[in-house]
Amino acid sequence: MKTGNIWSKKVPEAQEQQEALESKQEVFSSPVEQLITKEGFEDVNVIDLKDIVQIYGDKPNQNVIFDGFNLEIKDIVAKGQFVAIMGKSGCGKSTILRYISGLQKPTSGEVLIYGQPRKSGQSIPMVFQQYSSFEWMSVLDNVALPLLINGVEKSKAREKAMEMINIVGLSGHENKWAKYPILSGGQLQRVAIARSLVANPQILLMDEPFGALDIVTRKQMQMFMRSIFEADNALDPTTILVTHSESEAVFLASDILILDSGPASIRYHIKIDLPDIRDNSVRKSTRFTELVNEVRDKMEAIELEK
Ligand SMILES: Nc1ncnc2c1ncn2[C@@H]1O[C@H](COP(=O)(O)OP(=O)(O)O)[C@@H](O)[C@H]1O
Ligand SMILES: [Mg+2]
Repeated sequence: MKTGNIWSKKVPEAQEQQEALESKQEVFSSPVEQLITKEGFEDVNVIDLKDIVQIYGDKPNQNVIFDGFNLEIKDIVAKGQFVAIMGKSGCGKSTILRYISGLQKPTSGEVLIYGQPRKSGQSIPMVFQQYSSFEWMSVLDNVALPLLINGVEKSKAREKAMEMINIVGLSGHENKWAKYPILSGGQLQRVAIARSLVANPQILLMDEPFGALDIVTRKQMQMFMRSIFEADNALDPTTILVTHSESEAVFLASDILILDSGPASIRYHIKIDLPDIRDNSVRKSTRFTELVNEVRDKMEAIELEK
């Protein structure tokens, strides 16, 4: 039984915390914030998976995915963090995201979000590889949808959706259908990301979100993901990303977790000590190459196991 409890915690001054909170409320003051929110700044983990067991099928053919799996992600106050989860295909990465989002319950064990079991109706947004927008709705309506569902008044919802459409670089496209080929693959993923972020969630889940994109678009999307969190726009969710790409994980993440399998545990935790502000020059640095090689070696070691 292993635990990924190695996160460091930055504790800002009370005033800094207050300012961060206020600036956030200025930009996004809707009831949806209350959905998944930090209640004050108590010392509580963002996510705790405790003693998780996941068994599919019946004896003697049962498939044990997790048997006493633990994951602890500490809160880094007033600052986003990016955790990448990697591991062999089928080891349980998507299952972990489904537990956190509330789409699936484990056979046994506890899933805590900010120290609490999920309340009914709580949802955590997830961006998938396949386009998940409603094709018969405009970009604007797609992005406004989570706000409308949560009772935000229509004109306010559209106003906030437009702010988010600007942040993801889609202004001018808001009245188009969210449909391929009217929008490109990269643009459609931006719509999905905007919809996931519009209610300013504290947690964002991404399951191989750029896997279907060509290399050039994929790199642009990676840059874009870093830039929206670096920009001064009050977005600072804890993002959990599942990816197969070593370079994507290194470029985006602050922490990379590599899982083994059968049953899974966290085998490696790699801290990514690249600068917080990451642009294409980071990709050319020696440290970036070293980290990508380290992750690749560890992934290969895991692949070679039975
Ligand atoms: N409903 C199910 N019934 C049986 N097996 C399942 C079910 N859902 C997932 N699994 C198995 O659980 C394992 C983990 O799945 P998943 O989390 O999707 O893996 P990945 O790491 O590739 O995202 C896989 O071996 C998969 O076959
Ligand atoms: Mg998966």
